[in-house]
Amino acid sequence: MKRMKYIYSLSVAASLVLLACGGNSASTEKAAEASTEAVADISQHPDYKPGLNLVSKSDCLTCHLVAEKGVGPSYADVARKYDGVDTAVTYLAGKIIAGGSGVWGSVPMTPHPDLAKEDAEKMARYILLLKNE
Ligand code: HEC
Repeated sequence: MKRMKYIYSLSVAASLVLLACGGNSASTEKAAEASTEAVADISQHPDYKPGLNLVSKSDCLTCHLVAEKGVGPSYADVARKYDGVDTAVTYLAGKIIAGGSGVWGSVPMTPHPDLAKEDAEKMARYILLLKNE
């Protein structure tokens, strides 16, 4: 698949850069491959694109990565934690708007008071799709 090849070669390029800097290229490449496979499946889900667009437009990605921990938990870890929880969309949307700390550690998430509830829910639905990343 074209897209997979593209992402794969990006990961190879990233590993080479890391290698040059003495980083661990093997684990980086493995993580990139694993996430590429899952993307091919879930990107067709109706909740995927609307949420991804909103997350990309906001500041979320400065603190969250899909498959690796950043300042905040990875979206994959969030999705696994709330997998099968009925109230997850409502709860996470509320947390995205209000911010707060204590669930993943003491670092707080900044609040997003200007975000509409419906948009925060779309973000939550997208994040909850990422459990296999
Ligand atoms: C300044 C860094 C930062 C930004 C920006 C940020 N987050 Fe977070 N996020 C965090 C931290 C830190 C946590 C862990 C909070 C905790 O432990 O309760 C978190 C937790 C979460 C959780 C899990 C909440 C829980 O209670 O389990 C979700 C979902 C989330 N963020 C989504 C988002 C979305 C969507 C955006 C963009 C609108 C965003 N975050 C922007 C740092 C950030």
